[in-house]
Amino acid sequence: MTPTPILLFGATGRMGRAVRGCLTEFPEVSLRACVARSPDDLGCPKGCAWMTPEDLFAGGRDALPADCVVIDVSLAAGTTRLLDWLERTPRALVSATTGLGDAEEKRIAALAARVPVVRARNLSVGNSVAAAMLRSIPGAARALFEVDLVEHHHGAKRDAPSGTALAWAALLAPGEVRIHSIRSGTVAGIHRAIFAGAGETLEVVHTVSDRAVFARGALRAACFLHGQPPGLYTLEQTLAVP
Ligand SMILES: NC(=O)c1ccc[n+]([C@@H]2O[C@H](COP(=O)([O-])OP(=O)(O)OC[C@H]3O[C@@H](n4cnc5c(N)ncnc54)[C@H](OP(=O)(O)O)[C@@H]3O)[C@@H](O)[C@H]2O)c1
Repeated sequence: MTPTPILLFGATGRMGRAVRGCLTEFPEVSLRACVARSPDDLGCPKGCAWMTPEDLFAGGRDALPADCVVIDVSLAAGTTRLLDWLERTPRALVSATTGLGDAEEKRIAALAARVPVVRARNLSVGNSVAAAMLRSIPGAARALFEVDLVEHHHGAKRDAPSGTALAWAALLAPGEVRIHSIRSGTVAGIHRAIFAGAGETLEVVHTVSDRAVFARGALRAACFLHGQPPGLYTLEQTLAVP
């Protein structure tokens, strides 16, 4: 099998480090470039180059293969600059950053007409299952409950509500959905949908205790995209990869 070359954008963040920490589980992946303003102590494997965003946008210190898959785990400002580069130099993209504006979401969708793209605000398998459960609630039953979404993340998370909470709320429309955000501790991610009716409550809860869950999702998605035709793919489609 041809290895999947990866460019990791936002390599020094919590997610970037988690992706590097899972690489040994993905022998079919070849990390070719780590992009961050400065390298960290975790290092990157042989054959992988550190580069700053400026190096990358200026053409890359080393030539990156045309079939390189970009994993974006930076913040919204980084994604905006990355998209400028990708529009000039299209590459397959796993886009995991949350808190993007409508303009950036549209640019990602437009990029998918040229290269294969997965846009996933939650890369975990458990979230795919939880979303399917929420989708399966019949409208008539949904109308009998008040719905609150509670999301809890570590104190350093910048955006609120979380991308996942917004996605769950969209799944549960029509009807009012209240979202409550908690930022404290080191929680990787908890999402709880509470359906409160007359004399009964129902809850759907998804808890991530280890960021490696998201990192594996990103690497699995990158392997899936390698060699795919252009298009906007869902995380569920990537789960078919063994
Ligand atoms: N889709 C999912 O399943 C999922 C799961 C968890 C988190 N996330 C999202 O992933 C993103 C990263 O989360 P995190 O916790 O890893 O954040 P983080 O720890 O703050 O790391 C952010 C990374 O992005 C880089 N960065 C920030 N601003 C940049 C810019 N303007 N240009 C280039 N690089 C920039 C940082 O490098 P410097 O240190 O050099 O600034 C760092 O490497 C967030 O949007 C988060 O919500 C998604």
